[in-house]
Amino acid sequence: AAAEKDGYSSFMLKEINEQPSAVEQTLMGRLDQHGNLMLDELRIDESILRAVDKIVVVACGTAAYAGQVAKYAIEHWCRIPTEVELAHEFRYRDPIVNEKTLVVAFSQSGETMDTLMAVRHAREQGAKVVSICNTNGSTIPRESDAVIYTHAGPEIAVASTKAFLSQIAAAYLLGLYLAQLRGTKFADEVRDVLRELQEVPAKIQSVLDAADEVKDLARRMSTAESVLFLGRHVGYPVALEGALKLKEIAYIHAEGFAAGELKHGPIALVEEGQPVFVIVPSPRGRDSLHAKVVSNIQEVRARGAITIVIAEEGDDAVVPYANEVIRVPQTPVLLAPLLTTVPLQLFACELADSKGYDVDQPRNLAKSVTVE
Ligand code: G6P
Repeated sequence: AAAEKDGYSSFMLKEINEQPSAVEQTLMGRLDQHGNLMLDELRIDESILRAVDKIVVVACGTAAYAGQVAKYAIEHWCRIPTEVELAHEFRYRDPIVNEKTLVVAFSQSGETMDTLMAVRHAREQGAKVVSICNTNGSTIPRESDAVIYTHAGPEIAVASTKAFLSQIAAAYLLGLYLAQLRGTKFADEVRDVLRELQEVPAKIQSVLDAADEVKDLARRMSTAESVLFLGRHVGYPVALEGALKLKEIAYIHAEGFAAGELKHGPIALVEEGQPVFVIVPSPRGRDSLHAKVVSNIQEVRARGAITIVIAEEGDDAVVPYANEVIRVPQTPVLLAPLLTTVPLQLFACELADSKGYDVDQPRNLAKSVTVE
């Protein structure tokens, strides 16, 4: 089994390290030599796709957080209202779904029963279903109208890592394709994003190359009893995913919050020594989101928090309020989750490992839950 891990101490660490190629594989074959986007597998009538008036993403666990990231991009590029719902909640609340709804089911395994039930229900209501899936020939793709395979390679560790990044990449391709088809984005704008996307694998690699710093931090923080994660915009689902990873494999109480919500409640939790991760949006983004998040760092730091800040290279504004800074390469705002998630995965993996836990087989969890 050690051989299958390619020398890594766990499948999880191996899969974290495979992310540059996982994302590359997701993008590959979907762009022609000229960088144009092709989604031949999307075998749904173009007239139906043009008429879609609502997108609903259904998924569970980490896949649902990938869906939350995708919502920001799809709405921005396509101007189609997009909801993200936990599949088990969607299925049993009589959701408004019809022939004009496009349901997108995210599932690494393709076998999650809660997600499958949501897919069946959506199709019964006349919706078209596209699945974003990592496992060829699995049940959810077979029961969908079309599938976009992520091609990330088999994921063995229970806690999902490379599948998460590939799901985001695949959903972005879907969003860009719909934007192209519906004319909400011009071909050259779509091409710009695609070009940036193709640079992402190398940028993930550079985050991985700096892993030792994150691992060192994880070992120093292994006695933490609670860790908070703050993010805004696409950084918000990244915060949720960072917290989930820590719960799943390190059994540490962790919560992710929307940074803007801090003052409406969560800040009451902050006391001396509380570790708080903050995912900082690019200072080059619009709407002064960066400045708002920097002031959130300041607020928690003033109340005694230990702040661990994930920020772009060259972002000096965070330095005065950060106990630790983890750098990621510069990238457009919507692509940042493909980079900022990686240190959070490494942190959870190393912390769990330093506590002697089996990171690949955490207690009480299954890789794929095939019961409702
Ligand atoms: C299980 C796993 C999670 C995973 C979720 C959805 O709960 O433990 O890691 O995110 O299922 O799995 P799927 O295969 O549908 O993506």
